[in-house]
Amino acid sequence: MSAAFTGTIQGARDFLGPHRTAGRTIGFVPTMGALHAGHRRLIETARAQSDVVAVSIFVNPLQFDRAADFERYARQIPADLAVCEDAGADLVFAPSAAEMYPGQAQTFVEVIGLTDHFCGASRPGHFRGVTTVVAKLFGIIGPTLAFFGEKDAQQLAIVKRMTRDLNFPITMVPVPTVREPDGLALSSRNVRLTAEERRVAPCLYRALTRAHDLIQSGAVDCDEVIQAAAFELDRPGVRVEYFAFADPETFEPVAGPIAPNSEKPLLALGAIWLGETRLIDNRLCRFRKLPSSA
Ligand code: PAJ
Repeated sequence: MSAAFTGTIQGARDFLGPHRTAGRTIGFVPTMGALHAGHRRLIETARAQSDVVAVSIFVNPLQFDRAADFERYARQIPADLAVCEDAGADLVFAPSAAEMYPGQAQTFVEVIGLTDHFCGASRPGHFRGVTTVVAKLFGIIGPTLAFFGEKDAQQLAIVKRMTRDLNFPITMVPVPTVREPDGLALSSRNVRLTAEERRVAPCLYRALTRAHDLIQSGAVDCDEVIQAAAFELDRPGVRVEYFAFADPETFEPVAGPIAPNSEKPLLALGAIWLGETRLIDNRLCRFRKLPSSA
């Protein structure tokens, strides 16, 4: 199947307008390109749930906190287009920076609170860049449904909140994280890992899994679980940026004793550096129901 390709906002509107008028649902998958099987899963999920599927490919300068990361971000439009077509996209929108940001913008979208900790704390301005570009893309594409990966759990919670607070008539659809057989979450940045770094990289998923398993087996203290699980990250070449529990709705850190029979799941999440490469991942930890002692 072939997908339409456009680099202009007008081109995207011209393609989608008649579909919207005809009452078709539009599924949207925003990406920064360098597409892998995780992105592919998002596009396939959108294909299964919508009449028309639009994918955007835009390396958004506004959300990079390090110039070198922006420069080095892989750009491979022909290969990405092939993935989009194969996964069932109808439209690929790949604008230039000048098309998205002509001149100096005076409007930005910022979600507060949810951005205080974790990636929000360590990457100043990052989420403001994400919400600003996603709001713009929502305005351009006008989707019925928008598909986001659970791998970027804080981003997903922030974009959900923005959608709710700004009354965008868009249903957010979370898509589970796609992993390598050894547990490493697929990421466009994985290609930068050296062979040795790649060998070590699954330690983040192992640490999250250990935290998950300890919670399930009835651990009573968050700090003890984090300490025990972080043992997996104690390897040469690994620098831990954060490894902690968060409330999966507010993204406030959760520490200390766990209430017995708590109904509320915890999100274990981490960010590590291997050389110049930063990796993030997370796992939702549900508590095992204990038989009541009554
Ligand atoms: P990017 O990193 O290209 O990711 C695009 C989408 O793919 C995001 O929703 C992300 O969570 C999802 N994704 C990435 N790796 C995944 C994996 N292993 N399994 C499942 N889904 C995965 O996230 C961004 O781009 C940008 O911040 C963007 C939202 C496009 C705004 O610029």
